[in-house]
Amino acid sequence: MLYEHPDFDHHREVHFHEDKQTGLKAIIAIHRAWSAPSTGGCRMRDYVDEAEALRDVLRLSRGMSYKSVLAGLEYGGAKAVILGVPRAEARQAVLRSMASFIDRLGGRFRTGVDVGLSPDDVGFMGQYSPNIVGTGSIAPEDLTAQGVLEAIKAAAAHRFGAVSLAGLTVSVLGLGKVGGRLAELLIGEGAHVSGADIDDSRNAAARAIGVEIVPLTTAHAIPCDVFAPCALGSVLNGASIPELRCGAVVGAANNQFDRAEQAAILAARDILHAPDFIANAGGLIAVAAQLGARGEAWAHDKVSELGATLHSVFQRAEAEKTTPIAAAESIGNDRMRQIEDIPAVAA
Ligand code: NAI
Repeated sequence: MLYEHPDFDHHREVHFHEDKQTGLKAIIAIHRAWSAPSTGGCRMRDYVDEAEALRDVLRLSRGMSYKSVLAGLEYGGAKAVILGVPRAEARQAVLRSMASFIDRLGGRFRTGVDVGLSPDDVGFMGQYSPNIVGTGSIAPEDLTAQGVLEAIKAAAAHRFGAVSLAGLTVSVLGLGKVGGRLAELLIGEGAHVSGADIDDSRNAAARAIGVEIVPLTTAHAIPCDVFAPCALGSVLNGASIPELRCGAVVGAANNQFDRAEQAAILAARDILHAPDFIANAGGLIAVAAQLGARGEAWAHDKVSELGATLHSVFQRAEAEKTTPIAAAESIGNDRMRQIEDIPAVAA
């Protein structure tokens, strides 16, 4: 039952869709709905089963609400997942069908690129739906990588007192659209970057720009200053946390903790964690720039503010003897109450 699902957080809408003709199966979840349309990317994956897809869409849409309010934006969180990667010859039909599913929500949901979809896929869907975003002049993945870079700077300053990234060692897991660009930016700042991807073509491209490719199974465990998860979620779990040999974890992947209580276990190991919904807000900021016709300068300024946001989260976590993610969620909850005009209940 959805209402008892551990990841159900009073989501406003959850829609299930099946199109027998194209084979599309997809779920859209709207976590919060405020004055502007709810927004979040569209992911396409070979999920193990429908339960995994439902968990993903519920958690990802919730994370989008926090991402939005922590970045000072007004978009309620939402997300779409497509269950299964279609054969190449069926791909366009599936994407077209997905576009019409999105439109059936009457503009209450806007979506763009996420894992499994390329900018070309999203551009194609945009030909069939006015509700496809992130197709403006700023590529969301570039701004996401820029934001993660700002977050790494903030974490390195807080954790190591670092004033620059020169000489910093960073291990990037997942060298896709964001991870690959992040590696390039880090190398540009003088950091030593190692990394791994499950896809060898991504490893080859990263190697060509100077990334030291390490075995996939050890990317999280090699000694480094910063571990940057940029593949999929749940990378911080009971097995991986004891193996980490870094001072900070800062990456683009959403929902990095497999279970919420693992944040405290990571903190107990004196490893600083940057909440993903702050570090990876650049993509949403790119979308907000397009939707609000706010321009590139606005977007870059907004991304450069993410470091200061993280800094205040780290300070609040220390003052309240809690984890950065708990501190950030607490700030997010306050802002959501203000938006929804619900009086805060005294603890
Ligand atoms: P992508 O699909 O381009 O890259 C993901 C990469 O991870 C791929 O190269 C894939 O081969 C690799 N990968 C998958 N499973 C792996 C595994 N088990 N081990 C190692 N590598 C693995 O996706 P993108 O856009 O770069 O996103 C990366 C992460 O950042 C995702 O979690 C996404 O939700 C998140 N994110 C992306 C944003 C964007 O603007 N694209 C915005 C905010 C968050």
